[in-house]
Amino acid sequence: MTDAIKTQLLSAESAGIAAAARLLQDGELVAFPTETVYGLGGDARQGRAVAAIYAAKGRPQFNPLIVHVPDVKTAQLYAEWSDTADRLASAFWPGPLTLVLPLLPDSGLSSLVTAGLNSVAIRIPAHPVAQALLRAFGGPLAAPSANPSGRISPTQAAHVANGLTGRIAAILDGGPCTVGVESTILGLTGAPTLLRPGGLPAEAINAALMTPLQTRSDSAITAPGQLASHYAPKAAMRLNATTLYPGETLLGFGPNCPDATLNLSPAGDLTEAAANLFDHLHRLDALGAATIAVSPIPAQGLGIAILDRLTRAAAPRTA
Ligand code: TXA
Ligand code: MG
Repeated sequence: MTDAIKTQLLSAESAGIAAAARLLQDGELVAFPTETVYGLGGDARQGRAVAAIYAAKGRPQFNPLIVHVPDVKTAQLYAEWSDTADRLASAFWPGPLTLVLPLLPDSGLSSLVTAGLNSVAIRIPAHPVAQALLRAFGGPLAAPSANPSGRISPTQAAHVANGLTGRIAAILDGGPCTVGVESTILGLTGAPTLLRPGGLPAEAINAALMTPLQTRSDSAITAPGQLASHYAPKAAMRLNATTLYPGETLLGFGPNCPDATLNLSPAGDLTEAAANLFDHLHRLDALGAATIAVSPIPAQGLGIAILDRLTRAAAPRTA
């Protein structure tokens, strides 16, 4: 992080909600209450805002984030809808349920929010303050729990303030969360699969679905960065490249990369680089690059998450 920023504490009345919505429109981060836990919100369409979420949390990995919307009509702008999605939405939304659905092409969401996957996690929170904020903001909010990476999830504004003061623009205080654990995550890109147990019991989902729910092993849930579905480019990767060998395509970083086909950030800005990462990998793949050589990236701040992702992308493919 660079210099600490001033974190405003906003009350959850119309003036506070309007101020929070304006900050979000400007690409700033605002923590807000949901019925599960406080979320750290940023505009899911602005890559730099999404990158700033990872930076504020000090998250060393780019796990895909949940996109929060106010209603089903808005969800359908981003995700491919289905009868199963409809049944679950009617039964449990708004509420502590997240659905992972196929991502619509040209959704306009930042590729960092989905970690480059072709699916998207969507949730309609029930908390009245979250609802009011989403409507005032008028767009999709990416929001992981509003705590520094590795710390416990916040269920009160004071918890958020303890962890993130000086790192985010504002905290919207809506009192304590009633559910207190994160939402249940259900994968609907294939057979309905429980990806993370949470605030909505699996039994309730089973009853609504009338088909058996598949489960996934704990290790896969706690390490989403290692999911087989995580985006890896078709091209081979070579990191820390200071020279370019024949047949390689250079993904540059910083001002000294005249041979770069694409540059993550010509200015050497890690927030900009994170926002561009998955998009640039997709584009180099689409160009048919055989090997992507990547310029050195500093292992600090968001650079750690960028290098984590690139190292995984460079690792031998198992499937
Ligand atoms: O209750 C909650 O769900 C809270 C509040 C703020 O809404 N949010 C939350 O978000 O817990 P987060 O970012 O910590 O959880 C996101 C998790 C990822 O770690 C990943 O496991 C899963 O959702 N996820 C997101 N997108 C996915 C995708 N496309 N495919 C599979 N899993 C996905
Ligand atoms: Mg969390």
